[in-house]
Amino acid sequence: MKIDIIRKAPVDMDCSIIFQEENGALDKVELLPQNIAQAAQVYCKSEDFKFAYGDIKNFALVNGTQRQNIILLGAGNKNELNNNKVRNLLASAIRLAGKLKAKQIYLFQGFDCPINDVAFGHLLSETALLVTYQFNKYLSSAKNASEIEALHYMLLSKNTRHLNRGIVEGRIYAETTNFARNLVNEPANVINPENLAETAKQAALQYGFSIDVHSLDKLKRIKMDAFLAVGRGSTHEPKLIIMRHLGNPEHHQETIALVGKGITFDSGGYCIKSAQGMLNMKDDMGGAAAVIGTMCAIASLKLKLNVIGIIAACENMISGDAFHTGDIITSMSGKTIEVVNTDAEGRLTLCDAINYAIEKEHCERIIDIATLTGAAVTALGTQIAAVLTNNESWLEQLKNAAAFTGENIWQLPAFEEYKELIKSEIADLKNSGGPSAGTITAGLFLQEFVQNKPWLHIDIAGTAFKDKESGIYNYGATGAGVRLLTTLLKYME
Ligand code: BES
Ligand code: MN
Ligand code: ZN
Repeated sequence: MKIDIIRKAPVDMDCSIIFQEENGALDKVELLPQNIAQAAQVYCKSEDFKFAYGDIKNFALVNGTQRQNIILLGAGNKNELNNNKVRNLLASAIRLAGKLKAKQIYLFQGFDCPINDVAFGHLLSETALLVTYQFNKYLSSAKNASEIEALHYMLLSKNTRHLNRGIVEGRIYAETTNFARNLVNEPANVINPENLAETAKQAALQYGFSIDVHSLDKLKRIKMDAFLAVGRGSTHEPKLIIMRHLGNPEHHQETIALVGKGITFDSGGYCIKSAQGMLNMKDDMGGAAAVIGTMCAIASLKLKLNVIGIIAACENMISGDAFHTGDIITSMSGKTIEVVNTDAEGRLTLCDAINYAIEKEHCERIIDIATLTGAAVTALGTQIAAVLTNNESWLEQLKNAAAFTGENIWQLPAFEEYKELIKSEIADLKNSGGPSAGTITAGLFLQEFVQNKPWLHIDIAGTAFKDKESGIYNYGATGAGVRLLTTLLKYME
């Protein structure tokens, strides 16, 4: 889809969006053709439409065989707008234009938006590309596919340099998020650990970062036994994927590790999930997709930072060779773990990946992102990701990033008191603290492996997948984490 800024409206506009503040006049909207302004005025009067925040209506102007759709979008009080409100408003209008089968959309804006031009350009292109994303490659006929070819922002008076810079950036954000969405939406019969590694290799070539993939022999040699235990029940070999973006080769800065949970399917193992609980478990590599997407984005943006993405990819299955409850495994770090639940597998893969990041890649800061606990869904639902940290000032930066991208987060406490729950009688740790405080104990388990380095833990179990469309999201994978992590890294540059 093309997104541009133009200065002249053609006479035969296909679909226009009039974005106006509450009670704003229509006759002064920049570049809006008079006949449309007049028709909209009449319509607003008859429907008592006042452009209150979130209000949206559409009507058609018919002239012979020609039909022009006009969407009215209310911004409410412009001083109360923020990034995410504007994002959701634009999303609703573009979604509606798509349903009206629009090909060319013309966006007219009747008020001065308090958001700066770079940010506005960013969220314009980002929103357009995110809201029109659909995973329909397996549909014989994709009836509801959007046909939008272009979104034209109608502007006369402004310098467009900043807006255009934002539009380019927003496109990078959206395309890498959609890449992550594709990875998560692909079912587990398509995306297995080998295949995930292959896709990451292609992404590395396309976006320009380097990549190594380690296979079983190597993983055995370096004793990633917690990771290997989880993958043992699958016929697909585990893969360790290491992606490097070394944007600051002088090493003035410490290297940041992005560790993503890459379980390509989570059956639960011998602690098998219910049919309902297993339904969407192809999404258990949502953290890995977020990391791959982020690597693509930061390579595109050429961030002057050293970032290493690490994914311990495997499949949690059942077979004669699968790990059992009661197994005691020695993790790569040397810490021993009693497996009390084979369905708490994510932390077993992540703890070795974190240790690898520190010991083999010399990372000094750790971010892990994972569809880790059902408890995160119970606590915060599907709109907000749970976060734990040992570094409050870094979390502040993450909160700022979340405010920019609208990917909301909420901190849960990493209090020492909870560690009691993951103590084992016969090993250093056990892999589950039971039903209470499940998101916290999972986080604290991982904290045991970060060697006191600054650490952010993001649990996206609730936010990685949507059962129905809302805002910029459609049914299926959300690409959670790509925009959030990219923005955090941008702030750290
Ligand atoms: N992948 C699941 C967590 C999950 C649940 C992600 C729902 C997305 C939606 C994870 O591996 C898991 O099974 N966690 C267990 C942990 C428990 C056994 C301690 C859970 O949350 O029930
Ligand atoms: Mn599990
Ligand atoms: Zn899992």
